[in-house]
Amino acid sequence: MSSHKPTNTPIWKRIQDRLGVKVSKKGAKLVDDNGLPIPDAELRHAVAGNADLKWFIDGGKLGVETVVSVLGKQGIEFGSLESVLDFGCGCGRVLRHLGHYENVHLHGTDISRPGIAWCDANLNFAMFGTNRLYPPTRYRSSSFHFIYAFSVFTHLTQELQTLWMTEMRRLLKPDGLLLITVHGDHYLNHLSEPEKAAFHNGKLVIKGSESVGSNHCAAFHPQKFVADSLAPETGFKVVDFIPKGALGNPKQDAYLLAADA
Ligand SMILES: C[S@@+](CC[C@H](N)C(=O)[O-])C[C@H]1O[C@@H](n2cnc3c(N)ncnc32)[C@H](O)[C@@H]1O
Repeated sequence: MSSHKPTNTPIWKRIQDRLGVKVSKKGAKLVDDNGLPIPDAELRHAVAGNADLKWFIDGGKLGVETVVSVLGKQGIEFGSLESVLDFGCGCGRVLRHLGHYENVHLHGTDISRPGIAWCDANLNFAMFGTNRLYPPTRYRSSSFHFIYAFSVFTHLTQELQTLWMTEMRRLLKPDGLLLITVHGDHYLNHLSEPEKAAFHNGKLVIKGSESVGSNHCAAFHPQKFVADSLAPETGFKVVDFIPKGALGNPKQDAYLLAADA
């Protein structure tokens, strides 16, 4: 005999409760608790590594929590910033949760045309555009007070990391801040023994460099590489290092960087 109890709860309500999302009144459109539509599985997969609906929403919120707390440690309120760029925003997993900061000019850029097209059509509180794999972007120098890049430098070769850090430096105002997240010590088990040895010697390790810019290319950053090479060689200094601190990209390390005057 079946152990299922009969239920009067409609199927749409059960799906809604299970996934933590809503079905909009207009029809079969999934929306979050702010009424914003949710991108399809392919777009979600491209930014989160899986298409899980609940994680797409919760992980994005945790990304915002990371931004707010990292800036908070410096005495900066996110809402006090004038202009912010989400570099490598994809389909706006994190940026979608920032719309209530009405005084902050929000921008997002990515190489993914489908991701940016989705943002353009659905997140009307921010400005979006695409960029190419190589810099520059279309923004003027000193455009932003704050730039964040969640799990973007994790998919770039060393050459591109240097070029993009230099571009980030150009885009930031003189007292601006950059937050990046990378694969640090937590990801050592993804490396072969020779790669682990290189990592322990402070060398950047890249796997799948032929797929640069996609999730098939993975970069692994020892703290020494960021602090002694990547940051200083591109005009930055490390203001804060939070091991496994990227709450929405667990368990990547987070670095807050400032222009080295
Ligand atoms: C793992 S996803 C993370 C997306 C988003 N930051 C998030 O956390 O939800 C990596 C993103 O970096 C983007 N990306 C890779 N190379 C890029 C580049 N050169 N310029 C801009 N975006 C890039 C990819 O298209 C993708 O959207």
